[in-house]
Amino acid sequence: MTVDRYNREINYLRVSITDRCNLRCDYCMPKEGLSLIGHDDILRYEEILRIVRVAVSAGVSKVRITGGEPLVRRGVVEFIQSLTSTEGLRDISLTTNGTLLEMYAEKLFAAGIKRINISLDSLNAGKYARITRGGDLNAVLRGIDAVYRIGYSPIKINVVAIKGFNDDEILDFAKLSLDKPYQIRFIELMNLGSADLDHANQYLSNSTVREIINRHYRLEFINAKTRKTDGPAEIYKISAAQGAIGFISPVSHQFCRTCNRLRLTADGHLRVCLLSDEEVDLKGPLRDGCSDAELRDLMERAVAKKPMHHELYCDEGQRKKCMKGMSSIGG
Ligand code: GTP
Ligand code: 5AD
Ligand code: SF4
Repeated sequence: MTVDRYNREINYLRVSITDRCNLRCDYCMPKEGLSLIGHDDILRYEEILRIVRVAVSAGVSKVRITGGEPLVRRGVVEFIQSLTSTEGLRDISLTTNGTLLEMYAEKLFAAGIKRINISLDSLNAGKYARITRGGDLNAVLRGIDAVYRIGYSPIKINVVAIKGFNDDEILDFAKLSLDKPYQIRFIELMNLGSADLDHANQYLSNSTVREIINRHYRLEFINAKTRKTDGPAEIYKISAAQGAIGFISPVSHQFCRTCNRLRLTADGHLRVCLLSDEEVDLKGPLRDGCSDAELRDLMERAVAKKPMHHELYCDEGQRKKCMKGMSSIGG
């Protein structure tokens, strides 16, 4: 399964363990929230563990746990503990909105998570509350402090760049990389359906973000990828900074040519691309008693369906391409 039709090695599985979230980010969900997947339709932890085990036997070596917000699912620490004992799985990381991190940081570290990505779109408490519809910035900042103190590495902070919202905070975010080893990553806003932002007017390209930073600091290009399982960020650094600055530019600089991932949705489907609704059902066959070999065959079928690239364009008002909400896919 490891190599697809376009010769891309598939070694990275993103696993959404819940579509539930304690926030309602403007670009992710409508304010009334989304209809949630029923309890029985969410994969059980044992089912996820089995899928991961088979995926590892087929070449996956990196798993990232996502949501919704993964830390709202009961039993997450014990689940991660079991996951870390999966033979052959070298890299397990977590993407979180950070609001519950202070409470979980120690336990997650002990369970085996050392790499963490935290979403944070404003450093102003009022604006943060506005974009997340009620989130508490201080809780996230305390969570970030906690993972730093405990020794997580790397710590990546995901900032979706939004014109008219946080374009006046680009430098403040960049400065967070000066004294702490944080990787601040600017992500271009994607038009994904089920969101409330005006994408055509609020999209900000990463070349503009880079220009804003370059006016004050010299950015050195470090490296696009250091390991074959790395995600899509291009990494820069302000001279003498402890941390780094990453740019994830799915809209202006499509990175599909180096795509290395599959996504397991909370309801048990393998999604072949973030931006396409093409999925392969694993939950049905799993619950009908399929064998590991059959499961692996389904995974191979998903890999074979991976498209060459997505079709979000910045010059066409970013056509809406996928209708399933980001919160059930996990980003
Ligand atoms: P690491 O490199 O391991 O830190 O992971 P990552 O960058 O893959 O993980 P993270 O969860 O922090 O992802 C950051 C964001 O980048 C995602 O939420 C998406 O917004 C975007 N992104 C990641 N992978 C893809 C992809 O395959 N396609 C597109 N269009 N966007 C992606
Ligand atoms: N465009 C870009 N990034 C998004 N994320 C969620 N929705 C979007 C979108 N429409 C990001 C979040 C988080 C990650 C999991 O996905 O900010 O960092
Ligand atoms: Fe929750 Fe993440 Fe969606 Fe925000 S972007 S509502 S934190 S799932």
